Amino acid sequence: MTKPVLLTMSGSLRSGSYNRMPLAQAVAAFGEAEVIEGDLNLPLYDGDVEEAGTPEAVTRLCDQMARADAVVISGPEYNKGYSGVLKNALDWLSRPSPSVLKDKPVATMSAAAGRTGGETAQFQTISILIQLQMQVVHGPLILVAAAQDEFGEDGSLPNDFLQKQIKARMQRLRALT
Ligand SMILES: Cc1cc2nc3c(=O)[nH]c(=O)nc-3n(C[C@H](O)[C@H](O)[C@H](O)COP(=O)(O)O)c2cc1C
Repeated sequence: MTKPVLLTMSGSLRSGSYNRMPLAQAVAAFGEAEVIEGDLNLPLYDGDVEEAGTPEAVTRLCDQMARADAVVISGPEYNKGYSGVLKNALDWLSRPSPSVLKDKPVATMSAAAGRTGGETAQFQTISILIQLQMQVVHGPLILVAAAQDEFGEDGSLPNDFLQKQIKARMQRLRALT
């Protein structure tokens, strides 16, 4: 049996991003898969750039999305909104026709320094994913609040509640593949 392809997307580009940590937990919980880490370090969407020829990094991400059986996104919260990095990636990803996003199963999480764990940002993200006709795996939001205190230095997540939430969500995501 071929392994499902799982695409991960972090809404934060920085190397030490806390959002990469729940993504790593999600990958482990998903089970055997071909895992692709999406690179969201893309040029800003610009219709002129697109007309001149879609940038290579964008084409790569769109191809990865087209191949993916499932997607998991974790993003930070910036000023009570989701990151421009994630929005820019979704804008580019929304461009191919036929859509590479329509009906694609997706699970979301957020990790943030604040006490709400990026709740507002994650709600905004989900509303965009619905607009893009992705198949969002619903459930109580997976929110890693005060992310700097939740993870071990090795990226481990000692919080049992969050671990259970991530496992359950990823099992449901897998069931859709
Ligand atoms: C411009 C900016 C705005 C931020 N606004 C919020 C916010 O609204 N809520 C929050 O919980 N954290 C906020 N933070 C803190 C981020 O949650 C924190 O930097 C987090 O670690 C970012 O995610 P990352 O570790 O994946 O890069 C903000 C950080 C930056 C740089």
